[in-house]
Amino acid sequence: MTTNNNEILVNLKDIKKVFFTDDVETHALNEINLQLRKGEFISITGPSGCGKSTLLSLLGLLDTSTSGTYELAGHNAIDLDRDERARIRNKEIGFVFQAFNLISDMTVAENVELPLTYRSDLSKEERQQMVQEALNKVDMSHRANHYPSQLSGGQQQRVAIARAISGKPSIILADEPTGNLDSKNAQSVMSLLDELHADGATICMVTHDPKSAARAQRSIEVFDGKIVSDQSTEQTPALAL
Ligand SMILES: Nc1ncnc2c1ncn2[C@@H]1O[C@H](COP(=O)(O)OP(=O)(O)O)[C@@H](O)[C@H]1O
Ligand SMILES: [Mg+2]
Repeated sequence: MTTNNNEILVNLKDIKKVFFTDDVETHALNEINLQLRKGEFISITGPSGCGKSTLLSLLGLLDTSTSGTYELAGHNAIDLDRDERARIRNKEIGFVFQAFNLISDMTVAENVELPLTYRSDLSKEERQQMVQEALNKVDMSHRANHYPSQLSGGQQQRVAIARAISGKPSIILADEPTGNLDSKNAQSVMSLLDELHADGATICMVTHDPKSAARAQRSIEVFDGKIVSDQSTEQTPALAL
């Protein structure tokens, strides 16, 4: 893949994250330097507690670093006030979580529309069009008026992915997206991520599952708050099954 500077979407420099709880200091991330380019599919692996979710939270502007710099899609993502951070997060980031995190008393379509309702630049018609497009992409439009409890886990995760992509974000951040799924549903969710990637999406996925990690083009390993390996995993996704 070509790698000129214009394509850098995420640029983290010397990132540190320290949590202070009671009298305990936890150094969750140390000296993280990381650049992600547009169109990449990246996996992040490492043992429990090594800092993967913390890294994803910083990338997704859900939390702020203790020190270091972060540029996201041309925005300086450090020193933003709360509103600005929320606005950039809503526009640039699509989140997918292990536990789906759908709202149980909202329909599938309402769940997918939810992040779009915070966008003042979109009319109701535009929002509905975007919801329809996103549900088509994940093959769930026939369930638009169902509630999450009426769906299988795999279907719920597809809806969560529709919610993540409905606003056409710059990057999709997924934290253990197959962690709550049986292997058949996990495969179908991974195939969907492959399709989105083939369509041009940039995806950064934390996973415990080596099979899922092998679907990415680039594999980053974290240990004890540091990136200890960053390799391209050039192989055809079909062979990784
Ligand atoms: N909100 C928090 N407050 C205090 N410590 C935290 C918080 N979030 C994470 N940690 C600590 O930071 C370290 C990294 O956690 P985390 O990023 O969740 O790891 P992983 O996702 O790799 O399992 C762990 O030691 C964890 O206990
Ligand atoms: Mg985690």
